[in-house]
Amino acid sequence: MSNLKYKTILLGVCGGIAAYKSAYLLRELQKQGAEVRVIMTRAAHDFITPLTFQALSGHVVYTDDYQSEQRGMEHIDLARWANAIVIAPATANFLARLAQGRAEDLLSSLCLAANIPLAVAPAMNREMWAQAATQANVELLRQRDITFFGPDSGEQACGETGDGRMLEPDVIVSLIANKLFSHGELAGKTIVVTAGPTHEAIDPVRFIANRSSGKMGYAVAQAAQEAGANVILVSGPTALQAPAKVKVINVVSAENMLQQVQNEISHCDIFISVAAVSDYRAATNAPQKLKKQETLTLELVKNPDILATIAEQHSDVFCVGFAAETNNVKEYALTKLQQKKLQLIVANQVSADAASVGFESDDNVLEIFGADGSHYEWERANKSQLARRLISLISEKYHAQHTS
Ligand code: C5P
Repeated sequence: MSNLKYKTILLGVCGGIAAYKSAYLLRELQKQGAEVRVIMTRAAHDFITPLTFQALSGHVVYTDDYQSEQRGMEHIDLARWANAIVIAPATANFLARLAQGRAEDLLSSLCLAANIPLAVAPAMNREMWAQAATQANVELLRQRDITFFGPDSGEQACGETGDGRMLEPDVIVSLIANKLFSHGELAGKTIVVTAGPTHEAIDPVRFIANRSSGKMGYAVAQAAQEAGANVILVSGPTALQAPAKVKVINVVSAENMLQQVQNEISHCDIFISVAAVSDYRAATNAPQKLKKQETLTLELVKNPDILATIAEQHSDVFCVGFAAETNNVKEYALTKLQQKKLQLIVANQVSADAASVGFESDDNVLEIFGADGSHYEWERANKSQLARRLISLISEKYHAQHTS
């Protein structure tokens, strides 16, 4: 599958005749599964209207006239939202602004506020491209790790022939895929992670839940994203902030969670089931609040086992489970590894003491067992550190399985 799926890309459009090609570029990126937002400079409006990009992208187009109803912080918000910025066409004037680090319009402010891969596809007359001033700017920008896509050589809109044409949209799309998103040990892989508890309704105000905070699952999702994967986090109710650049699908119950995982799994390479899914739900969800009684008997029925279902139905997906245990950690974990047909199981001891490790804590202690017979014991550490280590291990095992 395309490694652009779910990538969030800011497409900056400057004022050059090649701006019309950016509409095709936007369409191509969307076809590859990327999410695109468009920012235009004022000069770009003379060549193509914001409405064109708005209609094609289905989103508001950010321009210097755009008035936020909220905070006027679009350059920061957009810079945090995106995985990468691609400016096409990039004019000589814009390259100069970028080289000088100016922040005089939304697009240049955004570039200054962003710490993500930035690529430019220059488009200008051949003399403008060849000018010492432009070439000095290009040199400076290259030194700062800004990626140049082109320019191409050939006949120009002005009738002259030479270097300065913008590359064709399909070429730019493959360069984005191969140059901007080829980093990381899980680049191009799609990973579904479940996290948090599930809430199983008893009546409109009560539910069955557990002490899972979601911290480990969120840390795993973030580590996978940092390793270059496209990450979909299917999360039960938590108080956590969504990790940057991860697609989050919020669910409530185990049945919701299974449904959403099944929707996403067909184009997924790895499934990491960190959620503490409730094993049972109430047999009936009372439509009205249950009245107090001397005794109340609740009938519980078993929830579907999401992980086992996915591992059974999708043997091509690399499945990783978690086993939170209070005792006999190793024995129970190994049984689950086999019964649920997993490639890896990550066991952690959960103590009744919340200040310790496991549920709600920022720390964890992990013991990992592989279907290949491998075994690892990782000492107490921060969940983010353990998550990064775990993602490296998953990547190593996944690649070993897929190259042999
Ligand atoms: O069997 P147990 O609940 O201990 O297994 C834990 C593993 O199975 C975890 O990875 C958890 O996310 C997953 N699980 C699930 N659906 C359930 C119960 C557990 O996916 N209903």
